[in-house]
Amino acid sequence: MRIGVYPGSFDPVTNGHLDIIERAAKLFDKLIVAVLINSSKSPLFSVEKRLEFLKESCKNIKNVEIASFDGLLTEFMKKKNANTIIKGLRAVSDFEYEFQMALMNRKLNPEIETVFMMTSNKYSYLSSSLIKEVARFGGCVKGLIPEIVEKELYRANKQ
Ligand code: PNS
Repeated sequence: MRIGVYPGSFDPVTNGHLDIIERAAKLFDKLIVAVLINSSKSPLFSVEKRLEFLKESCKNIKNVEIASFDGLLTEFMKKKNANTIIKGLRAVSDFEYEFQMALMNRKLNPEIETVFMMTSNKYSYLSSSLIKEVARFGGCVKGLIPEIVEKELYRANKQ
């Protein structure tokens, strides 16, 4: 069975992430979307909320599993019997950091391959941090994030 893992902070999930999830799900028997628990960034949404948003947004894709992980991605993948990391690339600016991570993950486990997928160009300028910033100042992010996230984003920013 081919199992892929799409890791990230997903704070919150955007339509750009969903685009990658939909396309990556076609390449694997199972795709695990893995939410990092202990990030150095201070998240807007709790892990539970981020998982809920992903579960709701991916409920119609049968071979997608939503999970959270702590510690090293390569260790999580070993536990899940997965050997491919999926990453989305939006622009050249993503490349350097992604390249470092891919090589570090290969050093940690040479059996694991990182595969990069190009985000659809209509979402290439999107990032969770930009979404949060625009929403914080009352800008419109309709069509860029799932509806369930949109509803809670403005509320979360007011707290
Ligand atoms: O959405 P993000 O914040 O860009 O995702 C980064 C993520 C979660 C993929 C990365 O930080 C990660 O894999 N963290 C787990 C810890 C780990 O394995 N670090 C070494 C990888 S180079």
